[in-house]
Amino acid sequence: MEIYFITHNSSKFEEASELANNFSLTMNWKNIEYEEPQGDTLEIIAEKSCIKILEKDLTLANLVFFLEDAGLFIDSLNRFPGPYSSYVYKTIGNDGILKLMENKENRTAFFKSVIAFYANNEIKLYKGITKGKITDSKQGHDGFGFDPIFKPSECDETFAEMTLTTKNLYSHRQKSLRELFTSLTAFA
Ligand code: IMP
Repeated sequence: MEIYFITHNSSKFEEASELANNFSLTMNWKNIEYEEPQGDTLEIIAEKSCIKILEKDLTLANLVFFLEDAGLFIDSLNRFPGPYSSYVYKTIGNDGILKLMENKENRTAFFKSVIAFYANNEIKLYKGITKGKITDSKQGHDGFGFDPIFKPSECDETFAEMTLTTKNLYSHRQKSLRELFTSLTAFA
């Protein structure tokens, strides 16, 4: 089966590719520019995005593809930025988050990933969550986005200090991807 990961983020594609290889799946990259729809939850955003790109390009209806929406939820900020992570990263970035977290004792947070998978006129959602902490300062230079300020529980390194292979042991994204890839290969 040929599947497409629709994303403009090459780092997400690299993370997914490594896992797809482990599952012996052929996964191709499609970069379609679209404005992310608004929504109160990642589930709504992922599903709406899927419908939006299907309407934009009718040929996609014949393909098997998925896209993914992720967010960082910080407990002491009432789970902000959550579904607004993309906008918040673009505007205040990691420095802005660290500033908001100054003097906060509770630094627990979690990343969530929601995949919207499309095949045969049907959309299915797959989810993954990784709990951890917001660091006091940026650490590491690898990865992307909030990686330098997020340390998963039971790890001594932020995502940005890990190799891609190590991030793929702990990340929210590998959890949603594993669920999807397991369901795709279960009956192969
Ligand atoms: P997106 O809408 O899924 O692309 O992600 C929303 C925001 O969260 C973007 O600013 C991303 O850079 C950030 N983000 C998503 N996934 C990750 C991750 O695995 N690590 C760090 N930041 C992420």
